[in-house]
Amino acid sequence: MAIASTIRPCCSHLFLSQIIPKYPYNFSKSQKCPHRYEVVAQAASTAPAPNPTRDPVRSTGSVTPPHILLQGLKPLVFTPLLPFPEKTRPVDPVRHEPIPRTKSVAEREAWKLLNQAVVNYCGKPVGTVAAADAGAFKGELLNYDQVFIRDFVPSALAFLLKGETEIVRNFLLHTLQLQSWEKTVDCYSPGQGLMPASFKVRTAPIDGNADAEEEVLDPDFGESAIGRVAPVDSGLWWIILLRAYGKITGDFSLHERVDVQTGIKLILNLCLSDGFDMFPTLLVTDGSCMIDRRMGIHGHPLEIQSLFYSALRCAREMLTFNEGSANLIRAIKSRLSALSFHVREYYWVDLKKLNEIYRYKTEEYSQNATNKFNIYPEQIPAWLVDWIPDRGGYLIGNVQPAHMDFRFFSLGNLWAIASSLTTPKQAEGILSLIEEKWDDLIGTMPLKISYPALESDEWRITTGSDPKNTPWSYHNGGSWPTLLWQFTLACIKMGRPDLAQRAISTAEKRLLDDNWPEYYDTPTGRFVGKQSRLYQTWTVAGFLTSKLLLEKPELASILTFEEDLELLEGCACRLSRNGRTRCSRQAARSQLLGNCA
Ligand code: GLC
Repeated sequence: MAIASTIRPCCSHLFLSQIIPKYPYNFSKSQKCPHRYEVVAQAASTAPAPNPTRDPVRSTGSVTPPHILLQGLKPLVFTPLLPFPEKTRPVDPVRHEPIPRTKSVAEREAWKLLNQAVVNYCGKPVGTVAAADAGAFKGELLNYDQVFIRDFVPSALAFLLKGETEIVRNFLLHTLQLQSWEKTVDCYSPGQGLMPASFKVRTAPIDGNADAEEEVLDPDFGESAIGRVAPVDSGLWWIILLRAYGKITGDFSLHERVDVQTGIKLILNLCLSDGFDMFPTLLVTDGSCMIDRRMGIHGHPLEIQSLFYSALRCAREMLTFNEGSANLIRAIKSRLSALSFHVREYYWVDLKKLNEIYRYKTEEYSQNATNKFNIYPEQIPAWLVDWIPDRGGYLIGNVQPAHMDFRFFSLGNLWAIASSLTTPKQAEGILSLIEEKWDDLIGTMPLKISYPALESDEWRITTGSDPKNTPWSYHNGGSWPTLLWQFTLACIKMGRPDLAQRAISTAEKRLLDDNWPEYYDTPTGRFVGKQSRLYQTWTVAGFLTSKLLLEKPELASILTFEEDLELLEGCACRLSRNGRTRCSRQAARSQLLGNCA
């Protein structure tokens, strides 16, 4: 890996002047939005007023909710959510302070491990290593000693929910700096705006001085990764985390920084650029997300669509409205409408929908075709006929011409709930399917990454005979405890914390006893994964984040979105058979309540 592509020297890293000249945007106009909203203390009981002593930035800061200006709606009130409400805790009668909840042995151990996993750059925390496994895989660390963008998200959340914000801010700014560097894979450069999959802090000799060394950040955009996979999800996670950071700290000045605004725009320009695609879903290669090996998810995998939708909603909230961003904000809004319509309509299956697919006519040539993607009913897999419950349903893994991937993918479904990509009724349906299929999807270790596993010829052809992805292992039906936090988030959003609590109780003792494995194998997750790392940081952090979210469910809103009827107006138009129904909020509401689910 070329050292020239690293970030150096370490201490000049956050200067805008290093970044802006590389960006293709003209910032000569004022960066300040003419309309600004003061941060006001929240009237509702969900969070206390900003604390000027502990957090002066929040109490004096201001924010610019650009989409609100664009759409002429009433201003949103942005409120920092820290410091945390302690009022529900019993109060110590002598000290007059809330008595802290006693942490379990597993929690205490997890915090110790998470803190040990922290990576410093120039003396400041910037991330956490993927795994600190000094056991079975010693000498075969591969890139598990790096800070992965996606892996750091649960670590960041655990720190944020605990009130430690510095590491997250540093991470956001340093990874942003890495984004602007050109990287090449052989003779080809990936698109500008791509965020790295991971980075490592290395030491390098200072120019011309063999005796002196400095720290540098060395990113990997997939050019060293096994299979050379593109980390499409990195930029999306970065945007999601950026919003969460702002919402919990009230430090919206970070969102407003020119380099941060530009970073958001670069990521979205890459995602929204025109191609040959016919669908509003994002077209990606296999292995471009958490499942970063060949697993037959190329095309329009649900996981990417859910994260894409969420990132678009975050960006719409964070982008400052000005001449330079108006077109992008408009494009975001129209993509959001089209994307939610497409996913709600074509990815959703339940018993009724399956029965429709079963009776599909094929080879329909017309704009009004019912079977738009020419799906042959024979594609409905035998396992699904018995598996689909009477109640509930889920979003399938992928939809493209003549192809539906009927596998259940947890991350995509859970994140679709959190971001309101689904209708509320569909969101409820997904949770009730998980409840109904608890043994298959949670078993003895939450949560199956995908269900069911690909076996025999299907495994051979789809994975390319990948020995790591054998049936019921790793990405092929393995159980990944890190997914616990996304499950907890979805449960809290849907008012079902009891389900999350049940899953956490299943995992807690076992994770501690098994030394926090990366993943588990077998149909019910009974064995520690064949090649699983131990002390996997996102396992540890996912557990802690789940615990903290359950303890402070009101803070789940830093990651979630509610249904937005305005976005559905476009969707409602398309739903009418003749396409002539006037777009209206009423039509949108009826789509929300009925048609789509
Ligand atoms: C594996 C996972 C990937 C994760 C990485 C580091 O490659 O598939 O999702 O980011 O390990 O933990």
